[in-house]
Amino acid sequence: MDWGMKNRLARVIKPKTGRGVMLAVDHGYFLGPTYRLEEPRRTIGPLLAYADSIMLTRGVLRTSVDADTDTPIVLRVSGGTSIVGRALSDEGITTPMKEAIRLNAAAVALSIFVGTEHEHQTLLNLSQTVSEGEEYGMPVLAVTAVGKELEKRDARYLSLACRIAAELGAHIVKTYYCEGFEKVAGSCPVPVVVAGGPKLDTEMDALQLTYNAVQAGAVGVDMGRNIWQSDFPVAMLRAIRLIVHENGNARQAHELFLSLKQQGK
Ligand code: 5RP
Repeated sequence: MDWGMKNRLARVIKPKTGRGVMLAVDHGYFLGPTYRLEEPRRTIGPLLAYADSIMLTRGVLRTSVDADTDTPIVLRVSGGTSIVGRALSDEGITTPMKEAIRLNAAAVALSIFVGTEHEHQTLLNLSQTVSEGEEYGMPVLAVTAVGKELEKRDARYLSLACRIAAELGAHIVKTYYCEGFEKVAGSCPVPVVVAGGPKLDTEMDALQLTYNAVQAGAVGVDMGRNIWQSDFPVAMLRAIRLIVHENGNARQAHELFLSLKQQGK
């Protein structure tokens, strides 16, 4: 692996712990003004300092993040669909590699939709992006997206999707936590991070998910709604950091969350 690729990867997965806390705020690319992400700058601003990297589109990056930030950018480069359209899986590449480089991205991210009518096109999107990424030293994060079919999120399906992403050259894979996650992480030869999915009932549920995922082999999270849809998003993000980077358990992280919440953070 060339120096540029290694350097960019080290900005996303921190060498000190071998783990990463990625903040996902790319939801608007198909969901529009998602609850509590209606005004991206207001959501992102207080969280930026506590995220190892931030995953978003070029539009939100340019409009809602100041260019003097030193938080690495993971740029979403796939899309072209909407929640009210015909098929969420019908994605293309929305942002060229050249622009990702101009935006000083630390990595690019795109979704694959294994098992859908657009499996082939989204897997070729990934392959093509990896080929370009290899040329320019840009890591590629593949998201094993399930669209509206949340019930797909089991170890059998996610192992299949993650492994295919790695086989096609993804440098990092983002997937969902599930029962039997050891199989998903263990059969994927590149680092795996987990999304949080729709907001869970309690903060403790999301912290437990994070802990379970890391214990089962995830190198961290690329999480959105369970952080910024919390009433105390900074406290939540800091609690997640405790699990990912300091090997805290869910109870310790929850105690930190409650204490930060009490301080109004
Ligand atoms: C959508 C995405 C989102 O970034 C991802 O779902 C992470 O966010 P959340 O933790 O809210 O699920 O990649 O395809």
